[in-house]
Amino acid sequence: TSRQRVFSGIQPTADSFHLGNYFGALKHWVSLQDTHDCVFSVVDLHAITVEAQQNPKQLRRRSLLSYAQLIAMGIDPQKSVLVMQSHVPEHTQLAWVLQCITGYGEASRMTQFKDKSGKEGSDHTSVGLFTYPMLMAADILIYRTHAVPVGEDQRQHLELSRNLAQRFNSRFKKTFVMPEPLINPATAKFVDLQNPTGKMSKSATTEGGMINVLDDPKVITKRIKSAVTDNEGVVRFDRDNQPGVANLLSILGAATGREARELAGEYDGKGYGVLKADVADAVVAEFEPVAQRTAELMDDQAELERIMADGAQRAREIAGPILRQAYDAVGF
Ligand code: ADP
Ligand code: NA
Repeated sequence: TSRQRVFSGIQPTADSFHLGNYFGALKHWVSLQDTHDCVFSVVDLHAITVEAQQNPKQLRRRSLLSYAQLIAMGIDPQKSVLVMQSHVPEHTQLAWVLQCITGYGEASRMTQFKDKSGKEGSDHTSVGLFTYPMLMAADILIYRTHAVPVGEDQRQHLELSRNLAQRFNSRFKKTFVMPEPLINPATAKFVDLQNPTGKMSKSATTEGGMINVLDDPKVITKRIKSAVTDNEGVVRFDRDNQPGVANLLSILGAATGREARELAGEYDGKGYGVLKADVADAVVAEFEPVAQRTAELMDDQAELERIMADGAQRAREIAGPILRQAYDAVGF
C-alpha cells in the first residue's frame, strides 16, 4: 500500500488498561487504522525489565488480556497487524545490533532509565531496563515505520530511535526509515479522581482514583460519583483552580467526542452531581461493550491463540526481510 506505516506498543503491566491509556492513546490507535498501515503491539518483552513484574502466570494473563482488549476496543487484527512482541524474534535480533551502535554514555542519558533505576536502586536495576530504549528502537525500525504515536514520556526514546536509524544508515547501508512522532489530537491528561493534582497512572494511583476499562459498571459509577471536586460550586473548565471538575469535563468530552470547554458552559448552574452522573453514564457506555467483548475473547482461548499466531506471521512477513537486509549490511 502507499499508506504510511504506524507502529505503536503498549506494555501488559496490568490486567486492564485504564481510562488514561484508553482515551489518551488507544482510541487514537483505533482511528489511525483508517488512514495508516498500522502495526500495534503488546510489548511483553518490555514488561520484564522491572523485577516487580516478573511473575510468569500474571504476565501471561496480562498479555492475553491486553491483546484481547485491543481487539475488543476496535483494533481489527485483519486490517492492522496486531502482534505480541515476544512472538516476533526479529525485534530482539535487531535490538542487539542497535545496542552495539549505541554509546554507553548516550544510553546513560535516558531520563526514564535514570528515574526508574534511581527508584529501584542498583541491585534491582536490570541491564534490560538500561537497554530497553534500543529494543524500543528495534520495535519501530524493524517495520520501517514512518510515524509513531508517542506520549511525552517516550519522546526521548523516539529521538534515540531516529539517531540510531540515521547512524545505521550512514555507517552501513541505507536500510531504515526515519520515524517521526505522531501527535495525538486529544491531548487531555487525565488525573487521579481522588487526588486531582496527580496523573492517573497505574504506578501512582490508588484504586479509588482509577477507572479501568474492565471495571464493573457499578464500580465505575461509584468511583466517578466519589471523585474529589471543590467547594466552588460552579462548572468551569479551569485545570489550575478546579482540577477535579476539569478532569470530569475532559472525561465526558473524550467519551462523547465533545470539547470540554463547551461542555462546561452547558453544565454551569447544574451542579456537580448532574455532571458526575452524565460522566458515569458516558464512561459506562464506552467501556461496558469493550469489557463484554474482552470476556468473550478470553472465553475462547484457542481462537485468541489463532489470531495471535496469524498476527505474528504477518508481522514476520514484514520484519523478516528487513532484518535480513540489516544483517547483510552489518556483514552477517
Ligand atoms: P501509566 O502512566 O499508567 O504507566 P503507560 O505509561 O503505560 O501508563 O501509558 C501508555 C500511554 O497511555 C501513555 O504513553 C499515554 O499516551 C497514555 N496515558 C497514560 N496515562 C494517561 C493519562 N493519565 N492521561 C492521558 N493519557 C495517558
Ligand atoms: Na508512564
